Amino acid sequence: MPYYRSVGEVPRKRHTQFRQPDGSLYAEELMGQEGFSSDSSLLYHRHAPTAILAADEFTPPAFTRAPNLPLKPRHLRTHKLDAGGADPILGRQYLLANDDVRIGYVLAGRPSPLFRDATGDHCLYVEAGTLRVESPFGALDAVAGDYVVIPTSTIHRLVPTGDQPVRLLTVEATGHIGPPKRYLSVRGQFLEHSPYCERDVRGPDVPLLVDGEEVEVLVRHRRGWTRYVYANHPFDVVGWDGHLYPWAFSIHDFEPITGRIHQPPPVHQTFQGPNFVICSFVPRKVDYHPDSIPVPYNHHNVDSDEMLFYTGGNYEARRGSGIEQGSISLHPSGFTHGPQPGAAERSIGADYFDELAVMVDTFRPLDLCDAARTCEDEGYAWTWARR
Ligand SMILES: [Fe+2]
Repeated sequence: MPYYRSVGEVPRKRHTQFRQPDGSLYAEELMGQEGFSSDSSLLYHRHAPTAILAADEFTPPAFTRAPNLPLKPRHLRTHKLDAGGADPILGRQYLLANDDVRIGYVLAGRPSPLFRDATGDHCLYVEAGTLRVESPFGALDAVAGDYVVIPTSTIHRLVPTGDQPVRLLTVEATGHIGPPKRYLSVRGQFLEHSPYCERDVRGPDVPLLVDGEEVEVLVRHRRGWTRYVYANHPFDVVGWDGHLYPWAFSIHDFEPITGRIHQPPPVHQTFQGPNFVICSFVPRKVDYHPDSIPVPYNHHNVDSDEMLFYTGGNYEARRGSGIEQGSISLHPSGFTHGPQPGAAERSIGADYFDELAVMVDTFRPLDLCDAARTCEDEGYAWTWARR
């Protein structure tokens, strides 16, 4: 995250003596990316962040992946998955995945265990409900419409905080997720043409200062999962500073870029990850050329699989296709997709689209996971044919 933040107590100079009230040293921890050559933060713990008492192999809930065969556009109804009361990490139902990214959905009603994903960053999108993300950096509260980015290896716990379960679309990268490079200056400031900027970004504000001994943390790492028992609670940090921390950003703060004629999806780009992008389609004025057709033309982005999560309003181009709140469409490479029959004609003259959707475009094919098969609308592929 290109935004310096300082929370709680930190010493004036890094890597110098910083003492607790009893005279002992705080334990300094640097958490940084790309081998000390990219963003990092320095955290000050009351106890050693290295002290583990036990390590055991852990078996996470299993899921399968299979190629999209026969190659078809797919419609997944995530609300059919409702298990209710699941934990927001181990209860995720994976839908689409490749080696770069895993996309899942969860309806969560209870706190997760403490968890560290050492394989990549997570981007959570809150469809409904409220969520608290606790970590050594502090707490970060999220509401419907928020994206939350959790950096690789941040030990965290997700806590649904409302009366109702929280609905999350989860995007787990094998690598780092951040703002598109073209939105940033060489020194990391959001540029004027970026659809969002530092004022829209939120981070943890105060340390959690949790006490506790013999605390279990589940770690997903590059070769499997391990359950550690830490001697002390990892949220014992008194202060930290740097550019690396969990952060949130509301889709409602994404300022749409519009034009006289149809603007292509890159104007909606919100994040970039390894071999994928995330875009936000938000309510906006639409194309104002007198002869414009506001819905998209038929298109084949030949190098991408395109996943779209419909999270509010009416998605004009999909009217009549069965797409509903919580639907996911997958339009894979190898298939030309476009508006449903009649949508182009119907959109002429519209000056505003009330739609809210999150798109993930992947540069490598997405496999279908078992949960996708259980909530698939099998008729979707045939909805463009007038028969
Ligand atoms: Fe598309």
